[in-house]
Amino acid sequence: MNTEILTENEIPTIASLLKHGELVGLPTETVYGLAANGLDAKAVQKIFSTKGRPADNPLILHLGDATWITRYCKNIPPAVWTLTEHFWPGPLTLILDCQDTIPDIVTAGLSTVGVRCPNHKLALKTILEANLPLAAPSGNLSGKPSPTSAIAMLEDMNGKIPAILDGGPCDIGVESTILDVRNTPTLLRIGGISQQDLESVLKQKIKIDPALEKNNSEIHSKPLAPGMKYRHYAPEASVTVVQGKNSPQWILEHAEKGDGVICFDEYISYFPHCVTQSLGREKDFTTQAQSVFSSLRYFNQTTVQKIWSQCPINEGLGQAVAQRLEKAASYQIINLEDNP
Ligand code: TXA
Ligand code: MG
Repeated sequence: MNTEILTENEIPTIASLLKHGELVGLPTETVYGLAANGLDAKAVQKIFSTKGRPADNPLILHLGDATWITRYCKNIPPAVWTLTEHFWPGPLTLILDCQDTIPDIVTAGLSTVGVRCPNHKLALKTILEANLPLAAPSGNLSGKPSPTSAIAMLEDMNGKIPAILDGGPCDIGVESTILDVRNTPTLLRIGGISQQDLESVLKQKIKIDPALEKNNSEIHSKPLAPGMKYRHYAPEASVTVVQGKNSPQWILEHAEKGDGVICFDEYISYFPHCVTQSLGREKDFTTQAQSVFSSLRYFNQTTVQKIWSQCPINEGLGQAVAQRLEKAASYQIINLEDNP
């Protein structure tokens, strides 16, 4: 199969492919998705086989607007409307009880479904043109870094799907925040919207899935979002995250010639003997989120075997970036503050 890169004026072709049970690459403001008609179990099955995705990992449905929630979900608490008013279209996925019309394969047999309305003109046009809820995980092969451009998605999907809609580089660059809103709102994945933003709109403290706490996921508890238990975002080289204010010096002492280094702009000149990728400036979480996945993907085109990475502090969008780097490192983390 030849994978075509299509643009905005070919959205009718993309919508027609979706209606005929095909998969397409879909740009969103977070990352590119691998989309199918979310009401067509056979089409959704192809998502799992194409990505190599474990069958117990449910998919998110992408909706045209907040009113579509009543088509596919039930027992909707009032907080949903407050949240959608503030954050939709946008990088917030809500977990709600689902109606029986949603095929089991979408929800991996759970009684709940994740729904979100993407804040991307081309994604919304496609959903409205197809008039379908689109099931779409990130458009990478399972376990790899998510794609934030049409070209990055083509690296993983070339020859496997008929088309990718090119919507340019993703504005946000990390996936949506996932919030279970059925009872006390609980964060299942930290992403494009921060915990602080959610708490200020909901005017209440939200719970955090204990499995999201550092180093906790393998050891203590089963994540509430099934996908969070799998190895994620991993380039071919092994990654070690180094945290703490002396991390540039520490990496300089430990990195060997030809190793990879992911660091903030301020420190790029420390590592002339290494293959470097800049995340953006140390406090610029927006740029860091936009570049984290392309930095990780970059090393797959090199012979680098070992990558050392700086990591933003746990604040705002920095928290989402840190979490992706920590997962890419399979929680191989050196915290210099713990062990000075
Ligand atoms: O930003 C995003 O959310 C992107 C774009 C394409 O929209 N999509 C995305 O999908 O990141 P994916 O499949 O890579 O991640 C979805 C996560 C998985 O960890 C999955 O286990 C969790 O959402 N999830 C989906 N449905 C769920 C449910 N009913 N209950 C708990 N977790 C759920
Ligand atoms: Mg994913």
